[in-house]
Amino acid sequence: MHPSFLTIGSDSLAPHPPGDVCCRMAEPTHILNKINGKALLAPMLATTDIPFRSVCRESGAALTFTEMVSAAGILRSASNSYRNAVFSQDEHPVGIQLVAADPETAAAAVRELLPLRPDIFDLNSGCPNDRICEAGAGAQLLGDIPRLGALLRAAVTASTVPVSVKLRLPDNGGASALRDLLRTVEDAGAIMVTLHARTRHAPYDEKARWETIGEAVQAVSVPVVGNGDVFSAADAQRLMRDTGCAAVMVARGALGTPWIFRDIDEGRDCDIDEHAPGSEEMCRLVTRHLEALQGEFGAVVALPRLRKHAMWYARRFPNVSALRAQLFAVDDAGHVLEVTRRFFESAPMPLDPSHPERQEIERRFRHRVLYWTTSAAVPEG
Ligand SMILES: Cc1cc2nc3c(=O)[nH]c(=O)nc-3n(C[C@H](O)[C@H](O)[C@H](O)COP(=O)(O)O)c2cc1C
Repeated sequence: MHPSFLTIGSDSLAPHPPGDVCCRMAEPTHILNKINGKALLAPMLATTDIPFRSVCRESGAALTFTEMVSAAGILRSASNSYRNAVFSQDEHPVGIQLVAADPETAAAAVRELLPLRPDIFDLNSGCPNDRICEAGAGAQLLGDIPRLGALLRAAVTASTVPVSVKLRLPDNGGASALRDLLRTVEDAGAIMVTLHARTRHAPYDEKARWETIGEAVQAVSVPVVGNGDVFSAADAQRLMRDTGCAAVMVARGALGTPWIFRDIDEGRDCDIDEHAPGSEEMCRLVTRHLEALQGEFGAVVALPRLRKHAMWYARRFPNVSALRAQLFAVDDAGHVLEVTRRFFESAPMPLDPSHPERQEIERRFRHRVLYWTTSAAVPEG
């Protein structure tokens, strides 16, 4: 088990003055909880719900985040936004990620959500989605550093728990623009910075630029969490070793392979297969996860979530095309569960990582995680 790299406080919920950033950051006595470990689960839209966060937590994730929650939605009392923000009490430490376009909305949403008692808020400053960016939020903030600073400061001032920020690389200006960005968020009171080492427009098939994570580590004194292209514990060790980042955040690398967190936590230098669960354990893991999704969302809403997690779990194995066909031939959660359970009860052996079918599926998955929801998604054979 790694030592903590950062202390965050759910007891920072206990009385201490909101807005007193210096006081909070300077007095560790205010801080109770510790993040034990160096592997964090990334926020993922329509994915990091309670069941998946629980799976990742049980698999060794030291801190998990909700998917991005619209601050404006919270202020409108939109039920979806609230649903995305809630977590169960056995999840701590857990963070709520907010996406907001202006300081007032961010601060008001923080105040509204504080009674849920998250351990940390994270501000999304990296989402490239057009709708989010047109509203002035997400990655759009990277091009308006003063507004990002003001927004973050407003959230920090409103919050009685720490606030972190998740960034992408700025489009222009190279290392000096990145430094300006990082110093702004540090000055605004961010307790931790996660850097997804791609620009807003860079697709997933372009490699994450890990060297920029090293530059970020040099630029600020708060912990920097490296993010982008961690698909095994070996990747995580290399990212931390090469850049000096305090921890790693894993998104796609946890989909269908949540034991990556245990591998990282144990300090292993292995690929994703070496310590994968055996067939019985795998079947139990998948079944338990899918049942929890059905319980959480009900048969109708859960259906697409069950299908995608089933495909993510199955993607290392042979006959994924056949499984996909079966999953899309049924239209209720119970049948999806049954089909998936049968697939894993047959105790399939993972394909060798060098097998062309596995490589092609993995390539498509990494490029576009939901590719199999479109027709002709999985190569035949
Ligand atoms: C399905 C999906 C949903 C995502 N949703 C969010 C989100 O809600 N908030 C966010 O900051 N990033 C989101 N991201 C980006 C990831 O958190 C992460 O930064 C990115 O995928 C790079 O990490 P990876 O290489 O480990 O996948 C999402 C990524 C995926 C694949």
